[in-house]
Amino acid sequence: MTFSFNLRETQPDEILQMPGLYGAAFPNEDLVPLVEALLAEPAVLSLSAVIGETLVGHALFTRGRLEGATERVALLGPLAVHPEHQRKGIGQGLIGECLARLQAEGVAQVQVLGDPSYYCRSGFRPASRVVTPYPLPAEWAEAWQWQRLDGSETDLDGRLILPAPWMRAELWR
Ligand SMILES: CC(C)(COP(=O)(O)OP(=O)(O)OC[C@H]1O[C@@H](n2cnc3c(N)ncnc32)[C@H](O)[C@@H]1OP(=O)(O)O)[C@@H](O)C(=O)NCCC(=O)NCCS
Repeated sequence: MTFSFNLRETQPDEILQMPGLYGAAFPNEDLVPLVEALLAEPAVLSLSAVIGETLVGHALFTRGRLEGATERVALLGPLAVHPEHQRKGIGQGLIGECLARLQAEGVAQVQVLGDPSYYCRSGFRPASRVVTPYPLPAEWAEAWQWQRLDGSETDLDGRLILPAPWMRAELWR
């Protein structure tokens, strides 16, 4: 049987399924309060992967800016795929669709904090010069990744300014 899923902007009834998805994908971490706070932000792009009406994956991108710069930027995170459906292309599908939408609206660069060996598959490069809202542990320097969407090859510079849910030191250490 062919495996297929649909990607779409998150629907209200999928928000009710977020605790189940995030609890399964992150058993040792409670990301649901962050996800729910971000979903209430107008600056957020939220994409769901569904099989029928069942939420099996979710990606959030938060639009922000860099202090002293005019370019528009966005931060990817969190990203979750239900363990029963991992390694089927859902994560990369969600990232690719969101990047295409952000590129179309003129976002110049996207940041992510995560495993470089996964995110390099979607075009991210390690060790961004962009300054995180709060200091990162030194051992995470490579995990702070960047990708230009506007054709440039140069990492931007400046401190990342994001909506309130991200402006908490504990999310960055
Ligand atoms: C990480 C995650 C989003 C990947 O989603 P996915 O739908 O399984 O990923 P894809 O199917 O698009 O890609 C799968 C490939 O990535 C690889 N991969 C998955 N996680 C990886 C990691 N942390 N490091 C390196 N490679 C990884 C898989 O081995 C697989 O490789 P293969 O195609 O050569 O077999 C998913 O595994 C997940 O939700 N994990 C738990 C939560 C998490 O860690 N989220 C990301 C941090 S915010």
